[in-house]
Amino acid sequence: MVPAFRGRHMILVTGAGGFLGRHVVRRLVGAGEAVRCLCRPGSPGGDWLRGQSAELFSGHLHDPDGVARACRGVRQIIHLASPILEVRDAVVEQFHRQATACLVDGARRACVDRFLMVSPLGCGTSADLPFLRSRGAAEEHLRKSGLPYVILQSSLMFGAGDRLIGGIIRLLCRTGLLVIPGTGKTMLQPVWVGDIVSCLLRALRDDKVADRTIPVGGPQHLTYEEVADQVAKMLNLPRVKVHLSRRTVGWASRFLEGLGRNPFLGYRHLELLDVGTITALDAVKRAFDFQPMPLVEGVAYQLAPRQDLGVAARRPGAERSSRMRGHR
Ligand SMILES: NC(=O)c1ccc[n+]([C@@H]2O[C@H](COP(=O)([O-])OP(=O)(O)OC[C@H]3O[C@@H](n4cnc5c(N)ncnc54)[C@H](OP(=O)(O)O)[C@@H]3O)[C@@H](O)[C@H]2O)c1
Repeated sequence: MVPAFRGRHMILVTGAGGFLGRHVVRRLVGAGEAVRCLCRPGSPGGDWLRGQSAELFSGHLHDPDGVARACRGVRQIIHLASPILEVRDAVVEQFHRQATACLVDGARRACVDRFLMVSPLGCGTSADLPFLRSRGAAEEHLRKSGLPYVILQSSLMFGAGDRLIGGIIRLLCRTGLLVIPGTGKTMLQPVWVGDIVSCLLRALRDDKVADRTIPVGGPQHLTYEEVADQVAKMLNLPRVKVHLSRRTVGWASRFLEGLGRNPFLGYRHLELLDVGTITALDAVKRAFDFQPMPLVEGVAYQLAPRQDLGVAARRPGAERSSRMRGHR
């Protein structure tokens, strides 16, 4: 059943069926917002979205007419779609160019009063990786559009349904192996997905952050190996740590992806892991006035049995931290 939203401000979410998208939709709907989810026909997140009190708009972001229809009556846009599973740089570049152009046009026609976008930290028009360069160009297009915008540039996110930490947990539970790709020394600043959603919700209305590009991350700088160690320690399972060359992990990922399996790190994820993604430890506090959750607290929350995002809790029985804040 399509919910009736007449008279309420509509928020359009792209990439709504993805990892971050589901968390965003769930919080918006829970807050009583009218939400329209733009997702591709056949999106794996479609079934979950159909069960939410949100409007589902099936379409492609490179289709200007479809995007214009999706933007009709919309007051704000949260643009999260990104082809992280696409390995061809030219296709990624084309997606970012076309999707941003179509959405910016649609947003102008609908006179939206805020356009939010989430990018990976490190993106920019002079970044080394083509993926990050094309994201940088998309950001630049939005900044020059004259639309009121907020861009969050985020470090690695974790939470129910995430790829990296969920993958570390899955692999460890199934095989007892803790795999460290490359040196394991890449610096990360893991940020709990619920905290990114809180930033987005504030960015929808807070004038303090209007027309800004804001780097965000969690409250710790950790190497990849430290992240893996902390997660493994929490699970308290017997484990064998294996250091594999970046090349071997890349080969295994491609092999598994070729078989239609879900490796814990895909090609793009590995590529992005080569780039350190950290910012100031107080970045969230300064821009959004709250303290983000440390890794172990967030992972404890992630492990608590819960089925509300269409992704099973990883390991039933894990203790929920006593410091967990109820409002999330
Ligand atoms: N996860 C992180 O750690 C992280 C860190 C920094 C920044 N970000 C940014 O946050 C945003 C959301 O990330 P995520 O982790 O939620 O990614 P995700 O789980 O891979 O979801 C991406 C979404 O984009 C959609 N999409 C992919 N290719 C598309 C295409 N060609 N046309 C239309 N839609 C397409 C997917 O649609 P389908 O449902 O149809 O597949 C999916 O819903 C991205 O912009 C990402 O760069 C993420």
